[in-house]
Amino acid sequence: MKSLILIIPTLTIGLWEYVRHAFLLPYISMDLGNWLAPLLVFLVTMTLLRKLFAMIEVMQEELQKERAAKAALEEREKMAQELHDGIAQSLFLLSVRVDRMEQSHAGRWNDSLQSAYQSLRKTVYEVNEYVRQAIASLRYPANPASRPWLESLQHLVAEFKQDTGIAVELNWSLTDNRLTLKEKVELYSTIREAMINVYKHAGASRLWVEGKDVREQGWRCVIKDDGAGFAPGSEPDSGGGFGLAMIRDRADKLKWTFEVQREQDLTMVVIGKEETDDTTDPDSTRR
Ligand SMILES: Nc1ncnc2c1ncn2[C@@H]1O[C@H](COP(=O)(O)OP(=O)(O)OP(=O)(O)O)[C@@H](O)[C@H]1O
Ligand SMILES: [Mg+2]
Repeated sequence: MKSLILIIPTLTIGLWEYVRHAFLLPYISMDLGNWLAPLLVFLVTMTLLRKLFAMIEVMQEELQKERAAKAALEEREKMAQELHDGIAQSLFLLSVRVDRMEQSHAGRWNDSLQSAYQSLRKTVYEVNEYVRQAIASLRYPANPASRPWLESLQHLVAEFKQDTGIAVELNWSLTDNRLTLKEKVELYSTIREAMINVYKHAGASRLWVEGKDVREQGWRCVIKDDGAGFAPGSEPDSGGGFGLAMIRDRADKLKWTFEVQREQDLTMVVIGKEETDDTTDPDSTRR
């Protein structure tokens, strides 16, 4: 654009002089031609060049805004990193220690100690969860177009693969705008918990994480593993750990469906959302 601004007056005058000498000599006197030349350049400057200048200004403004947004994002990323490396790591250690405490004192506790221990464990779990959510939401999109949410999911999968040696496949075709920001944060935590469960309990060698659209508004997310499956009595709602209970809680709050299935030697944790109420889908009014 800058080159255009520089070259347009020269071109205009060159073109004018050429046309004038080649075609217009019989019609336009030398004097009139001399007057017309600066007038023409002035007109071109006022119309075309002014527009170009305005465009440059807009572009510069946008660039400025983008820079500011990027700086803000970087700042958030840095905060997330600090939270992750500091508090989240210590909390993880704390939860490992609390888990060990139970193992090393198994059977030697009376009821009140046991329930105090359980509530301690629950609090540790919840704080862990909050910090992770804070980290996740710090990393989230100020600008949804850049899809950092999917990136954090990919990141989670890659990290999990590396830490556990379990082969994870991510098949994600769920349209981003079907999830609100809150849902993204919650779904991320849900997927992470389900994946950690596979590592902790399933003895699986493969894990699939899938997300896809369902009809006009809904979606379905499945975390699938080829492990041993739920032992009898350990199903969700049987009151064992907190992970599945938290998933159930979230599902209730956000009106998601949540179930655990076993199909062809695969354990599946299925979370989904049906069509919303304001849908125009005729089927949903019948349901
Ligand atoms: N993918 C899975 N395959 C087999 N069993 C599972 C799977 N996921 C969960 N379970 C069973 O469900 C139980 C409850 O899981 P939950 O996540 O609620 O608790 P936890 O993982 O034991 O503890 P916490 O999540 O509180 O650290 C587990 O103890 C385990 O027996
Ligand atoms: Mg768990």
